[in-house]
Amino acid sequence: MGEIVSERESRLVLQNLLADDREKELGKDVVTGLTGEPKSLPPKYFYDEKGSLLFEQICELPEYYPTRTETLILKAFGGAIVEKTGPCEIVELGSGSSTKTRILLDAYQAAGYPLRYLPVDVSDTMLSETANKLLKEYPNLSIHALASTYEPALSALPVKQLPARLIAFIGSTIGNLSSQECDQFLDLISQTLNIGDYFLLGLDLQKERTALKAAYNDSQGVTAAFNLNMLTHLNQQFEGNFDVSKFSHVAFYNEKEQQIEMHLESMASQQVSLKDLGLAVEFEKGDRILSEISRKFNRLQMEKTLAKHRLQVIAPYTDEKEWFGLLLCQRTP
Ligand code: AVI
Repeated sequence: MGEIVSERESRLVLQNLLADDREKELGKDVVTGLTGEPKSLPPKYFYDEKGSLLFEQICELPEYYPTRTETLILKAFGGAIVEKTGPCEIVELGSGSSTKTRILLDAYQAAGYPLRYLPVDVSDTMLSETANKLLKEYPNLSIHALASTYEPALSALPVKQLPARLIAFIGSTIGNLSSQECDQFLDLISQTLNIGDYFLLGLDLQKERTALKAAYNDSQGVTAAFNLNMLTHLNQQFEGNFDVSKFSHVAFYNEKEQQIEMHLESMASQQVSLKDLGLAVEFEKGDRILSEISRKFNRLQMEKTLAKHRLQVIAPYTDEKEWFGLLLCQRTP
C-alpha cells in the first residue's frame, strides 16, 4: 500500500543539515575560544532548548526594545514591503518561533499572493514545532524548513517556486557578527540571491546609552540567566564541569567599538574541564569569557556597506525614535 500523507504534511518539507556538520565541527570552536586570549565563546552556544526559551522571554522584557520596535515597523510597513516585492517566497535565517514573520505572511496573504516560507534554524525542535503551527494557521502556506547553520542552508536552498525570493535576516542578529564576519555573511547573501531578488535586514541603531545598558541588564535577570545558560549547555554537550554559581553575567556598552558586550566573569580562581574535548581551562578571579557582541549601527554607514556587496537599499523603514531600522534591499547586477 502506498504511503499516506496528510494534506498538512504534503505542504511541509523538513531538511536536516545539522548531523554531518556537527560530527565534523563538534566543539572545535569551543577549544579555540577558551584557549584564546581573551577567552571567548561563540554565541551559537546560547541556543539549546532552554536558551531558545530564555531568548523568547528576553524579547518580551520591558527593557528589551528591539523586538517590540521591529514588530511595530513590520506592522506599519508590511504592506509597503509586499507592494515592492510582489509575489515572493521568504527565506528566514534564524527563524526561531517565526513570530514577526507572521506579520509578513499576513501581508502577502492580504495581497492575495501565494505563501511560501523557507525557515532556517539550528534548533530542529523549534523549527518543526513552529512549521506545524504555521501550516495550521495558514492553509495556503507551503514550507521548506532547513535545520542548519546559515551557510549550508543557503547553498542547499531548493529551486525558487515563486517569481522572487526575499532573504529575511531580522532581529538585528547581524549585530552579533564581527565586522569581518558581517562582510563574509553579506558576500554569501549576495551570491545566493539572483539579480532583482530581495534582502530584508533588521538593524539595531545607535541610541542613548541608558536604554542600551538596560536592555542587556534587565531587572528580572533573564538576560543573566540566558548568558549563564551557555555554561550549562557546554557542560551537557561536552561533559563539562563549569560551576555556574561561580560565574556572573557582565554586560556593558563598549563606546569605541559601538557594541554591547556580554561576558561571563569568573568569581573565583578555578579550573574547569570539558572531558569530551580533552580541555582544561584555568580561570583567575575576574577573568572573563566574551560570550556575545551586539553591534549598534549607523543606518547610512550600513547602506554603504550593503552597496559594496551589491545590495541596494530600496526602502529604509524605521520607528518614530529611529531606534531600529528595517532595510529592504535589492540585489543589483
Ligand atoms: C539575537 N540577538 C540579536 C540578540 C541581541 O540583542 O544581540 C541576543 C541577545 N543577547 C542578549 N539579549 C539578547
